[in-house]
This record gives sequence, C-alpha cells and structure tokens, in this order.
Amino acid sequence: MTAHISQYDTIIIGAGGAGLMCAAVAGQRGRSVLLIDHADKPGKKILISGGGRCNFTNLQAIPERFLSANRHFMKSALSRYDQHDFIAMVDRHGIAWHEKTLGQLFCDGSAKQIVAMLMDECPDDRVTLSLGAAIRDIRHSDGRFTVDYGDTTVTAASLVIATGGPSIPKMGATGFAYDVARQFGLKVVEPRPALVPLTLGGEDVLFRELSGVSAPVIARCGKTAFREAALFTHKGLSGPAILQISSYWRKGDAVQIDFLPDSAEDWLISAKQEHPRQHLPGLLGQHLPQRLSDALCGRLSERTAPLGECKDAQLRDWQRQLSDWRFVPNGSEGYAKAEVTAGGVSTAELSSKTMEAKKVSSLYFIGEGVDVTGWLGGYNFQWAWSSGWAAGQVV
Ligand code: FDA
Repeated sequence: MTAHISQYDTIIIGAGGAGLMCAAVAGQRGRSVLLIDHADKPGKKILISGGGRCNFTNLQAIPERFLSANRHFMKSALSRYDQHDFIAMVDRHGIAWHEKTLGQLFCDGSAKQIVAMLMDECPDDRVTLSLGAAIRDIRHSDGRFTVDYGDTTVTAASLVIATGGPSIPKMGATGFAYDVARQFGLKVVEPRPALVPLTLGGEDVLFRELSGVSAPVIARCGKTAFREAALFTHKGLSGPAILQISSYWRKGDAVQIDFLPDSAEDWLISAKQEHPRQHLPGLLGQHLPQRLSDALCGRLSERTAPLGECKDAQLRDWQRQLSDWRFVPNGSEGYAKAEVTAGGVSTAELSSKTMEAKKVSSLYFIGEGVDVTGWLGGYNFQWAWSSGWAAGQVV
C-alpha cells in the first residue's frame, strides 16, 4: 500500500467487511483512499465469523430478510450488488465454498481467504491502510472533512463511516458510528443487541437445568416464526431459532416455542388409540431428547397415567401447550454475546442508493452501523458488501 499523504479523495473509518469493500471499489475507480481502523488488523469479525469459515452470503438474501425502520431501504443496494456478484468475486479469487444449509455459503478453507481477497481487491497505489490508531476528532468545513487520528491529521472530500455496531466490545467494536451521526445532527434508531441468546428467570429458570439440550422447534414472536434448532443454556435459550427470533423480540414479549413442529392435529388422541398403555414422556421422547421430554411432561402434569386412561380433552390441552410453550425471557445476553446490533443510523437520514447523508454532503454511513440488520446466515455480510459497494461507486 502507498506511503502516507495527508490529502485523499476519500477517508473510510473502519476496515471491516463494509469498509474494505468500499475501499476496493473506490480505489478501482481511481480514487485515493485512506482506510483507517483502530484495530491491529483489518476484518477481525470476518476472521472469527462462521466458526472461522465465514458464512459470507446467503443465496436467499432478499430484502424481506432484513430488519429496519424502513423495510424498503435496503432494496436498492441489495439489488445493485447482490449475493451472486459477491460469489463471482469469490470464484474469481479461486476460493472454494459450499452451501451448508438454508442457502448459507461458507468457505471450504478459512475466513482468512475472504479478508485476503478484499485486501487484494484494493489497488496498492490507490488505497492506504492505517491501523492501530484511535480517531481523536472529525471536522467539516469548506466542503472538506478533516480527521485527527493518532498523531496524524488528514483531509478528504468525502468521509465514509464503516465502524459497525457495538456487538462484541472486547473485539474493539464501538458505537462510534452513532457518535459521528449525532455530531452531524443525524438521528439514530435506538441500538439493541440482536442475534443474541435470551435469558430466563422466574419460573422458567428451571429450564436452565436442560443446559446443552437442543431440539428442532418453531420459535415465534408476534407474527414472525423461525423453524430451526433451539438450545437450552445455563442462562436461558439459544440456538439458531432463538438467535433469529431475538432480533424481533422486545422486553416483555413472550417467545412461543412449538416443540411439535411436525405433529398432526390430534396427534396425542391418535397415539392414545394406537398405544393406550404408553405414557406421555415415553411418547414425547420419540420426538424430543428424553431430558427435555421429561422436563416438559413434569410441567404439564405431576403424575403421568397411560394415555388410554387420559381424557381426550386433557390430551388436546397437552398437545396445545407443547405446540405453544410460552417463555417470557427476562433479557438477553447483551452486546457481549450479540452477533449483530439492530438499530443504528436512521435510514431516513441516508440515500438508499449511495448511503450518503441527506443533510451532510459527502458523508456516508455503511454496514452494520446503519439501521439495517439481516437474519442469521450470511445476510449481515451481504449487507456490508452491498452497502460498501453502493458508497464505493460514488465517493
Ligand atoms: P465490522 O464490525 O466488521 O467492522 C467495523 C470496523 O471498524 C472494525 O474493523 C473495527 O475495528 C473498526 N472500528 C470500530 N470502532 C472504531 C473506531 N472508533 N475507530 C476506528 N475503527 C473502529 N455475519 C454474517 O453474515 N455471517 C457470519 O458468519 C457472521 N458471523 C459472525 C460471528 C460473530 C462472532 C460475530 C460477532 C458476528 C458475525 N456476523 C456474521 C456479523 C458480521 O460480522 C457483521 O455484521 C459485519 O462484520 C459488519 O460489517 P461492518 O464492516 O459493518 O462492521
């Protein structure tokens, strides 16, 4: 990368997925770019993502699978640079990949390949990477942005904020993007941890004894439902179904779990006719891990009689409860465990085409710092690539 100069066309703060993509695209357009990060290396979240294999996109990355106060905002960027564009880049770099499940694409090898690819896409003579120094101040006057960082001062015609959200602070994640937005008078939708395990208290605390047990379920919150695995933890509930639903969950909401996602209506009545001597825990244990079955049955009834001795109305009520088990989480495991942050710089303040602030010419926000949050499964990186690409076209 080039030697230090103090004036650039563009300064990008944050060398994560969005910032690297933006730098590559702008650099390839011939713009001089300074990419600044306070971390000691770029793309740290990419490196730890997907268990070290980076779930870099999803084949079904459609706008409906993203949350935002404006559900249309992400459409433009996601359609102009989509999952197939990113896959084409991965293929061009000879990186082998596979679909794991539900359209989720992972590297066969290592997430390091994705960071190396993005770095490789940054033209050496156009993009300067500066690591390990904190930002001290940002100013804007006479159509130029001035940034003081470490012991250096630099200026540029445009400034891109790509510093992500505060999830996993011990990795250096910060709410810096929100501070910059507020400094320039832009609204921020209240940030909250998302894709995060939920915690249980009160009566539900007993379920913590099932720590380590997982089962395929349908998890619901309001009108949203996910059919994936749920996992009991020593603090509460986790697993993909819970992480997904956590993004829609607000304090006080119940999370409804269907422990019988594949059972027909009146399944227990049919079972009573076919196996009248069987007891509920044994029957349920054919569908769920036995420890979970025992715990649920213990809650349904103190004493279990053979199904043949149970009234139909009782069986219907048990089936209804097993299909609609309500937990009221008392919180979440917070930013320390949240895979992403929902909320962020209000989309009402930004152009959906370029990510430029409407009120402040040539100031851009991209990636997770913006109020756009994807489902679990490669969606959040796709947003980083798409929004980074959109800004990279114009900065
Ligand atoms: P990102 O957080 O990646 O980058 C921001 C950069 O800004 C960082 O390099 C940081 O050091 C820097 N920065 C922050 N504050 C700064 C400051 N004040 N000054 C200077 N620099 C600053 N998503 C997905 O799609 N597939 C997956 O497999 C996973 N897996 C995954 C695992 C784990 C454990 C986590 C925590 C998250 C994921 N994600 C994921 C989510 C994904 O990592 C996330 O959405 C993107 O990395 C967001 O990209 P950004 O570039 O917006 O921010």
